[in-house]
Amino acid sequence: MAIKLEELEAQQGFTYSVEDGVAVITIDQQGEAVNTLSPETGTAFEKLLGHAEADPNVKAVVFTSGKKDTFVAGAKIDFLQTIKTAAEATEISRKGQEGFDRLDAFPKPVVAAIHGACLGGGLEWALACDYRIATDSPKTQLGLPETQLGLLPGAGGTQRLPALIGIQAALDLILAGKTVKPSKAKRLGLVDEVVPVPILRSIALQRARELSAGALKVERPHGQRLKAVAAQSKKGLAGMLQRLADKALWSEVALEANPLGRKLLFDQARKLLLKKTRGKYPAPEKALEAIRVGVESGRKAGLETEARLFGELVVSDVSKRLVEIFFATTALKKENGTSDPSVMPREVKKIGVLGGGLMGGGIAYVSAALQGVPVRVKDKDDAGVGRALKQVQSVLDERVKRRSLTWREAAAKQALITAGTDYSGFKNVDLVIEAVFEDLKLKHRVIAETEAVTREDCIFASNTSSLPITELAKGSKRPEQVIGMHYFSPVHKMPLLEIITHKGTADWVTATCVEVGRKQGKTVIVVNDGVGFYTSRILAPYMNEAAYLLAEGADIAELDKALVEFGFPVGPITLLDEVGIDVAYKVGPIMEAAFGKRLAAPKTLDKVIQDGRLGRKNQKGFYTYTGKKKEVDASVYGLLPGGADRKKFDRTEMAERCALQMVNEAIRCLGEGILRSPRDGDVGAIFGLGFPPFLGGPFRYADSLTPAVLLKRLEHYQDKYGERFTPAPHLVDVVNAGKTFHSR
Ligand code: NAI
Repeated sequence: MAIKLEELEAQQGFTYSVEDGVAVITIDQQGEAVNTLSPETGTAFEKLLGHAEADPNVKAVVFTSGKKDTFVAGAKIDFLQTIKTAAEATEISRKGQEGFDRLDAFPKPVVAAIHGACLGGGLEWALACDYRIATDSPKTQLGLPETQLGLLPGAGGTQRLPALIGIQAALDLILAGKTVKPSKAKRLGLVDEVVPVPILRSIALQRARELSAGALKVERPHGQRLKAVAAQSKKGLAGMLQRLADKALWSEVALEANPLGRKLLFDQARKLLLKKTRGKYPAPEKALEAIRVGVESGRKAGLETEARLFGELVVSDVSKRLVEIFFATTALKKENGTSDPSVMPREVKKIGVLGGGLMGGGIAYVSAALQGVPVRVKDKDDAGVGRALKQVQSVLDERVKRRSLTWREAAAKQALITAGTDYSGFKNVDLVIEAVFEDLKLKHRVIAETEAVTREDCIFASNTSSLPITELAKGSKRPEQVIGMHYFSPVHKMPLLEIITHKGTADWVTATCVEVGRKQGKTVIVVNDGVGFYTSRILAPYMNEAAYLLAEGADIAELDKALVEFGFPVGPITLLDEVGIDVAYKVGPIMEAAFGKRLAAPKTLDKVIQDGRLGRKNQKGFYTYTGKKKEVDASVYGLLPGGADRKKFDRTEMAERCALQMVNEAIRCLGEGILRSPRDGDVGAIFGLGFPPFLGGPFRYADSLTPAVLLKRLEHYQDKYGERFTPAPHLVDVVNAGKTFHSR
């Protein structure tokens, strides 16, 4: 018998039916791509539970989703943004906790049948059920990613997860906001069973009946391990010896079994965390605190702490910035990169990659392994061919090692890539991505060669890091099909793809490349053509400023520390070593030719280059790479102005000088129309260059300083250091208009 609760269905997307003694509650919020959790959803769910409780024919409940690819994807985030005070947020957290406590204490067994994303509030919901079954689909992922939005799981997650899977495993998931696949969830004890999609519902109904009949006893891995440790400790010395022999058990669980061990565990976690967040991201620290209080003082105190800290985080600036980035990337996923939303991408069934070097190998990997299309690589020689295939293999091997792929899956992905030294296999490619040496003449030559062997409608994309796409297109017979696809190194790790259109690029070409990038797992921004596009352009003055500071006598380690303290993942000098000092050196004249003295690189690096220092790649740069610890190579000071005699600089000032150069240049890019919006500028700087996410990107940062204050700071440095700090004309306009960048 199906009970139709029209009002609830209309409002919250629930349906309720009873099948053979089991109430099935299904959530499918109409008009929404994913199910999300809000106080209203919680209330509606509880009403349905009330029906299940009151109906004597109902012996158990199955809770599931009607969506194709999501269970419940988390809390409604735009709702969180409307919250004004910490007290209000704390109250909402308490309500959520109470709701899930009631579910936890529900007198009949509740089974969560999970397919698709089960994240944040969705997982907290499932955690309050008695039994969890997940499908083995790649779409199914479970986790508490709240800390990535500057929040913490505020509906009991910080208490229920450690109780279920152990402190160590819970810290691992919550502090980093990690998600796990069903197989790992099963190993952790986060779900009790993993089943194929078609039988999820029938197994869930069966388990619900078994639970209500007392025929199913649930043994969870963490509980079993705790029991084993307790049994061993009762055996005195013999037990201790056995425990020492059984190291896995000892390290994983024994620490949790006594107060001293737990203290050690939390101290260690805090230390590691601070090293990573450097005090800039309060959410993981607060999550750790809520878990600790729960473990040490009991669930009631833990929940109170969780709600209080959740409240503090919701209204924090860091969380606001992280949520804005989340919205920006979500919005980008829905766009096709053109001003006409009706333009559809064309299907890309096969990709050709030119150049099997560092970038070509990476592009081949993301195309085959993530997008899942056949790839043909062409290099000029066998060495290049071998390099590309080896690079792909080593990334796949690493994934097999980390168990994110089986060796069989890895082999299938590798088999999608073939390579050679001629253009065979290019006849039927839909897209060619070029990553040969950075040389306009060579690039024109390969454009002509590919156009001679590919179909008329084949797209030609260049991975150039600096050459204008307009110039490249001049060497093409079909310029409307020429575009830039600027990947970042290492391609398999870096999240950004910067797509560059020139004036004649056809919209279908842009839409197609945006779609390709997305399928390759990238966050894609589309920018207009110009020297250095957006990312390379704003990086140039930032690196230049670091070089000026070195020339003035700054200490290398101090300078790097200054920018790391500001929030960048590494300092500029480490970055130079990583990307290659020679590579950065070549950018200088290109920028100078295009933008004049303002973006001219100082001569600081001349002698460093002459000394054959390329950075990490030849183990000779600003740092040493041979010893155990990476240290500044003191001999490099002999090649810098000022020699070994370094001066003391204020770290805040060093950081501000470099960072403001980047911010000011980003504003120029917006004013000149290179950037289409401040949002794209924020996303590009964060995902491509590591601009501190907690500051929200250059434009959010400018807005939080206020444009007027930023202008004053730039003028101050302009007085001191001259032309290169000239405020961007667009900044002056925004200040005069009394606006901010995001409210233009
Ligand atoms: P690389 O030197 O590692 O690889 C270039 C490859 O192109 C070599 O294997 C070479 O044999 C091959 N090649 C040269 N002429 C060829 C031809 N006529 N046909 C086929 N293959 C040919 O260089 P990398 O670093 O991979 O850079 C490639 C392109 O990507 C350049 O345009 C570079 O500016 C750009 N880029 C590089 C980034 C980096 O971090 N290395 C980042 C973003 C873009």
